[in-house]
Amino acid sequence: MRILSGVQSSGRLHIGNYYGALRQFVQLQDEGEGYYFIANLHALTTVRDPKAALALAREAAMAYLSLGLDPKKAVLFRQSDVREVLELYWILGTVTPHAHLERAHSYKDKVAKGISPDFGLFAYPVLMAADILLYSADFVPVGKDQVQHIEFARDWAVKFNTQYVPGYDPADPEGKERGHAPGILKLPAARIQEATQTVPGVDGQKMSKSYGNTIELFGDEKEIKKRIMSIKTDSTPVDAPKPTVDSPLYDLLKLMLPESEFAEVDATWKAGGKGYGDYKKKLLEAYHTTFGPARQRYAELAADPGEVERILQDGASRARAEATRLMDQVRKAVGIP
Ligand code: ADP
Ligand code: TRP
Repeated sequence: MRILSGVQSSGRLHIGNYYGALRQFVQLQDEGEGYYFIANLHALTTVRDPKAALALAREAAMAYLSLGLDPKKAVLFRQSDVREVLELYWILGTVTPHAHLERAHSYKDKVAKGISPDFGLFAYPVLMAADILLYSADFVPVGKDQVQHIEFARDWAVKFNTQYVPGYDPADPEGKERGHAPGILKLPAARIQEATQTVPGVDGQKMSKSYGNTIELFGDEKEIKKRIMSIKTDSTPVDAPKPTVDSPLYDLLKLMLPESEFAEVDATWKAGGKGYGDYKKKLLEAYHTTFGPARQRYAELAADPGEVERILQDGASRARAEATRLMDQVRKAVGIP
């Protein structure tokens, strides 16, 4: 079973990215053959500074590695290192209905957030489908916001196969019955982790780099402290029981504390007697307990950029071997020498 996923290197990673995405990716490396990549071509839709684009892609790779991704088990690579993805992107685009892209939620959401409505942003799902289909992925772990993109990838794979593979039957995509041919492009499935909830930011909205409300994974220690101390709370007096709804502090404690420790916090929270400041200190401790070891590894990798690059090059050559195999079939099917 091949598991593939990517993260866009469009900003510093935060704990929402960890609990919503990276944690699952890392856990899944033991369940199948993992392909994990840094979507630095997608990131160009928002990152227009070349120095930042390079640095953010490297930082995303360091984040994966320090959070436990093992490059001996999984293939870790940079999207742009396998140029075949751009060729498949174009070919897929020739069978992609414009109407599908017009109803893409992510495009509308991003434009609403003020991202420039350029062609690249509009075509984003086509490149994402190419990412997935190029490596014949079986499962794609993603957040809920990405599920529509995986459905598109399936639809377009079926369209491609129907158009170009003689004997392909969409009702039998693997060609198991006599007289049916298997598709060239394998149909992927989304895999959403049920426990994944939306991580709130310090202001109570969804944590997102575009809202400036994040707690970073590898940010400066003082800044992390400042952010945690600034978590929005209400004016409930120290002695009174604290509300558990609409409280990002409560939600973050629940997310980050081990179950037994959270049970204690939960009891005093509901009984009253402790102030929000104490709970913020508790959260800061939990942050350092949870991410301290990864932060340490991150610092070591940052001091050894050659090692990170070696890992990425090795991943790229393993990924390219797969990509080359698939593209030989795709070119032949469409009539490109
Ligand atoms: P951002 O909103 O900061 O721009 P991205 O859209 O780049 O983050 O998200 C990258 C991945 O992290 C996605 O799979 C997304 O589902 C997940 N993610 C981002 N923010 C959160 C959050 N607040 N809670 C849960 N998952 C999140
Ligand atoms: N669009 C994804 C996100 O914003 C990142 C991504 C790009 C991706 N290509 C992918 C995820 C392929 C899974 C598979 O999170």
